[in-house]
Amino acid sequence: MEVGCGLGYIVNRIYHEVDSKIHLTGTDISANATEKAQQLFPYIQFEKGNILEDVPQKYQSAFDVVMTKDTLWYVLDNLEAYFDNLAQMSKKYIYIHQSFPASSQFLGSDIFPNPKALEQYVSNKFEVEYSLLEYNKEYDKTHNLHLILTKKNN
Ligand SMILES: C[S@@+](CC[C@H](N)C(=O)[O-])C[C@H]1O[C@@H](n2cnc3c(N)ncnc32)[C@H](O)[C@@H]1O
Repeated sequence: MEVGCGLGYIVNRIYHEVDSKIHLTGTDISANATEKAQQLFPYIQFEKGNILEDVPQKYQSAFDVVMTKDTLWYVLDNLEAYFDNLAQMSKKYIYIHQSFPASSQFLGSDIFPNPKALEQYVSNKFEVEYSLLEYNKEYDKTHNLHLILTKKNN
């Protein structure tokens, strides 16, 4: 499951580059995005969905991996629901890929000024199984944080 999949290019890469037999689903709050994604990639299932709303029954613990890329800045008003709902959909892993702009002033910088702050925040709720920070020196100087999380046993 990819949450906030936009036009679906990442799930499509997983289909082609990882395994086309994986059951893949992409959701996004924008019906426009999911409709276009469905046209672009008809062999993948896309559905409109808001990660801040209650998780539908069919998506409860339904996915081995729930991933999301660059959605954090859209959900700052309700971080608790965001992380709880990602966790509710996942049987095991949550993969967060979040980029941080080069500038120190961006929407959300008061809450997460840098990748370390995000990692610290999620470590209160999840086990951090893997963490990788990439720095794109040549291109746009963004930092890209990759976190693989599992639920805490408590
Ligand atoms: C910066 S784009 C990233 C798109 C894609 N993940 C990528 O990296 O190319 C953020 C996406 O999150 C979606 N989004 C924003 N708020 C959302 C919400 N509450 N629930 C689901 N998707 C949301 C937006 O519609 C948008 O497609």
